[in-house]
Amino acid sequence: MRVLTLISVVVISSCRNHKDKEIIDFIKVSDQTYLSVTEVASNLDVPWDMQYSPSTNSIFFTQIKGKVAELNLETNSIKVIYEVPNVYHQRTLGLLGLAIHPNFAINPYLYICYTTKEQDSVFSELRRLELKNGQVIASKLLLKIDGGTGHNGSRLAFDNSHKLYWATGDIHSLTHAQDSTTLNGKILRMNDDGGIPHDNPIRGSYVYAWGFRNMQGMTFTANGNLLTSEHGDAIEDEINWIRPLSNYGWIDIEGYHDTPKELAIASKSLRTEPIKAWTPVIAPAALKYYSFTQIPEWNNRLLLGTLKDQSLRILKLNVNQNQIIEEDIFLKDKYGRIRAITVDKKGNVYIATSNRDWKPQTDFPLKTDDRILKLSRIEYTPRNFLSKEKISNGQKMDAKALYQSYCASCHKADGNGTPGSFPSLLKSSAMKDSKKLIHIVLNGLKTTEGDDTQVYDLPMPSFSFLKDEEVASIVNYIRTRLINSTQTIDANMVGDIRNQE
Ligand code: HEC
Repeated sequence: MRVLTLISVVVISSCRNHKDKEIIDFIKVSDQTYLSVTEVASNLDVPWDMQYSPSTNSIFFTQIKGKVAELNLETNSIKVIYEVPNVYHQRTLGLLGLAIHPNFAINPYLYICYTTKEQDSVFSELRRLELKNGQVIASKLLLKIDGGTGHNGSRLAFDNSHKLYWATGDIHSLTHAQDSTTLNGKILRMNDDGGIPHDNPIRGSYVYAWGFRNMQGMTFTANGNLLTSEHGDAIEDEINWIRPLSNYGWIDIEGYHDTPKELAIASKSLRTEPIKAWTPVIAPAALKYYSFTQIPEWNNRLLLGTLKDQSLRILKLNVNQNQIIEEDIFLKDKYGRIRAITVDKKGNVYIATSNRDWKPQTDFPLKTDDRILKLSRIEYTPRNFLSKEKISNGQKMDAKALYQSYCASCHKADGNGTPGSFPSLLKSSAMKDSKKLIHIVLNGLKTTEGDDTQVYDLPMPSFSFLKDEEVASIVNYIRTRLINSTQTIDANMVGDIRNQE
C-alpha cells in the first residue's frame, strides 16, 4: 500500500511537469545535439513578427489582423497589449513588423508597422508604442508612406547605435524600387523618434539603400552587418547584405547578375548582388542571427523561416558574417509555413507558424494553428527524432514536381486555386487552348487579360526561365492530371511560341 502511494505521487508530479510543456517532437542537429520541440502558444491568427525582450523575459508579437501581444515565458500566458485601431487587413496586408527599443528598460518603446486605408488609398504606417507596467500608455505615428494591394514588406530592426531600419516593399510599382527619392522598395534609416539622422548617406532623406521588391526578414549579425531576406517574383529569392547607398537591382535585375541583359545593366550602373539566391523559390521570411552556445552547430548562423518551402533553414556564415557558405534544412513540411523567429537570452529558439494566412498549403492549417513552438537543447538521446533534409542538387524534376514547385503555391495541388486571389485552373478556358496556355506560362498574366470575370489584384509572374521541355511537361501534367484531358504538346511547340513572341 505504501509503495503504491509513492508511485502515484511520482506519476502525478511528472505529469504536472510535462503539462505546460509537452514535447511534441525531437530534432537531431548532430550526434551530440538534440532538441525538443514544445508548444508555448496555440490558436493564434498569423503571428507576423515576434521579438524577445530580455528585460521582461517575454516575447512581444504581432498578429496580422491588428493585435500586439506579450507572451510571458515564465507562465506561457498571453496578454493583448494593443489593437491597432485603423489596420487594413487583406491577404498580405495588415499588422506586420515589430521591433523593441534596444534600451527597453529606459526607453520602453515598441515599434510596429501596418497597412491602413483611407478612401481608395492604401498606406503603411510606422508607430511607436510606449509601455508602462505592461500596458500601452501612449502611441505616436513616426512615419507614413504609400502602400499597395501587395508588397508592403515589411520588417523593422535596430542597430547598436539605436538607429531604426524599416525594410519597405515596392507596392507592386514598376518605378519605386529604382527611384532613390521615394520611400518604397527601400531600406529606410531613422532615429528612435522617427527623425532623419544627420549621418544618413543621403542628406535629409530616410533612404539608406534601394532596389528591393518585398523584404520579409531582417536581422543584424554580431559584427553589425544588416542582412535581409526578400521574395523574388517567380525566381530568385534572395538574402542581401545591406550597405548604404547600394542598389540591389530590382526591378531590372533578379538575383545574381547572370543573364546577358543583367550583366549589361550592372556594367553601366553599380548594382549589388545578393549573397544567396534560390530558384525554385522558397519564400524566405523570418531571418534571425544566432550566436549562442546552447546549439553550437547553429552558432554564427542565420535562422531562416520559409513560407512556401515550409522549413527552417540554417545558413552558415563566414567569419566576416557577409557570405553564406553552407545551408541545412530542418522541419520541411512539418509545421507548415514559418514566418517569425526569435531567440531568448539562453539561446532557445522560438518559431511561429503562419498557416492561417492567405496561402495555407496542403494539410494545413492544423486545428491548433497558428502556434509558437520552442526549440531547446536536451541532454539525452531520444529514440525518434526529425533529421535535416538532404539537399537535392540539380536533380531533374518530374512533371508533378515541376507543378508543385512552380504553380501549386498559388493554384494549389488540385488546381482549384484560392477564390479571390488565384483562379482555378480547372475552370480556365486556357486549359483547352494550347497556344494560350503556353503564352500564359511564358509571359505571366495581368488582370483583365484572363477570361475569368473575376479581377485579380496580383499578376501571375512569367515562367519564361523554364526550359521548353519543362513548360511542356507542366502543361501536359495540368491537362492530363487536373482535367482528364488527352490533349498533349511537345517541347517544340513551346519553342515555336517562344520564338514568335
Ligand atoms: C504567384 C502566384 C502564381 C503562380 C506561382 C502561378 N500562377 Fe497562374 N495565375 C496567377 C494569377 C494571380 C492569375 C490570374 C491573373 C489575372 O487574370 O490577372 C493566374 C492565371 C493563370 C491562368 C489563367 C486562368 C484564367 O483566368 O483563365 C493559367 C492557365 C495559369 N495561371 C497557369 C499557371 C501555371 C501552369 C503555373 C505554373 C507554371 C502558374 N500559373 C503559376 C498566379 C500564379
